[in-house]
Amino acid sequence: MDRFFIRGGKPLAGGILIGGAKNAALPIMACALLTSETLSLRNVPRIVDIHTMHDLIQQHGLQISIDKDDPHHFTFEGEITNSEAPYHIVSKMRASILVLGPLLARCGKARVSLPGGCAIGTRPVNLHLEALTALGAEIEIDSGYINAKAPKGLVGTRFVFPFVSVGATENTIMAACLAKGKTELVNAAREPEICDLVDCLRSMGANIQGKGTGDLIIEGVDALHGAEHSILFDRIECGTYACAAGITGGELRLIGAQSQYLGAVIHALEECGVEVFQEENALRVRRTGSLRGIDIMTEPYPGFPTDMQAQFMALLSVSEGASMISETIFENRFMHVPELNRMGARINVHGSSAIIRGVHSLSGAPVMATDLRASFSLILAGLAAAGETRLNRVYHLDRGYEAVEKKLTACGAQIERIKS
Ligand code: EPZ
Repeated sequence: MDRFFIRGGKPLAGGILIGGAKNAALPIMACALLTSETLSLRNVPRIVDIHTMHDLIQQHGLQISIDKDDPHHFTFEGEITNSEAPYHIVSKMRASILVLGPLLARCGKARVSLPGGCAIGTRPVNLHLEALTALGAEIEIDSGYINAKAPKGLVGTRFVFPFVSVGATENTIMAACLAKGKTELVNAAREPEICDLVDCLRSMGANIQGKGTGDLIIEGVDALHGAEHSILFDRIECGTYACAAGITGGELRLIGAQSQYLGAVIHALEECGVEVFQEENALRVRRTGSLRGIDIMTEPYPGFPTDMQAQFMALLSVSEGASMISETIFENRFMHVPELNRMGARINVHGSSAIIRGVHSLSGAPVMATDLRASFSLILAGLAAAGETRLNRVYHLDRGYEAVEKKLTACGAQIERIKS
């Protein structure tokens, strides 16, 4: 397993190109299953989760080519020949569940392995199944697989999500695009990645109203055609590197980022003493004074994103004063806390909240990555800490961040990947 060696203490300075959003690219790749025509996607991030989705869609029968002149340009062609998503792929990545809606809509049946839980929580898929059942699917679970069928096709309906779910919203939108009649989704998730999914589906001929709101109206169509789409920039990657500028007291230009999707994150950055400036095609982020403790509560968009919680935990661990972070989305998303405390942070977890007492500085130590965003929070701490930090299990990081050591080294960080 690869490891990172980080020697901290240097303010970062320079430009970082922000890539396409992992959490937009994954559902949008599943859209390739919704048409027999060619779907061309640009700005697809080259990360492990995308590779897994690539393999999953390929084993459903589609041909996928990657532009030799642009590794972020994927083209999907061909027809579905297999409507089963096997355990050995789904168990690697929960987002594999996003092929369920498209397979059901196109083939009238699907057999998808139940995704296991993961480090941050049990992450059930009951809402996905309830919503698809409301669209007329007959679903049963046997030997760890979801067996779904809709031999006469899906039928539009009105479905109210009892609580906000990004993945369940995405699965249902994709299925409803090919259902007979109108579907109304109430209390749907409103993340920017869902808006990007809607944009792609519309370019394929889908009829969807209410983009960006919690109330979506989808008029089913007989078929979707091919399209070209460029994936939205990754607001979480952007917020993560903004924390790198903040924790090292440096200044970074985050190229390709737009402030419009980062409202709550920018508010939190400015509240704790990090400055953010919107430029033509970049966000410039710097910290010159001291960091101040603040309180944060994670919420569905447009609230503060849970995917930024671990990164802010690292940032606030070296602020003046105390902070409180409440995690309302996942039940076990504080596994970075004991690792940060090994580096000298003073964080106490009480149920779904963590109290952070800022310390003057952190010290490098060997630490363990436990999940994607926790991995980066430990990198951030290592960039600020005196001495050397060794981060183990970097495979967690490679699932969702492209070329981290290259991007950070170009801005003055001392970070090296030791291949296992
Ligand atoms: C998406 O996960 C993202 N993943 C997550 O990002 C993100 O943290 C999450 O949305 C919340 O924003 C992708 O988009 C690939 P949910 P998802 O359904 O769709 C519960 C990252 O780091 N729930 O909105 O799985 C669930 O357990 C990843 O990039 C049910 O109970 O999240 C959670 O507590 C991590 N039943 C809450 O709802 C269901 O059927 C929100 O989950 C579905 C969800």
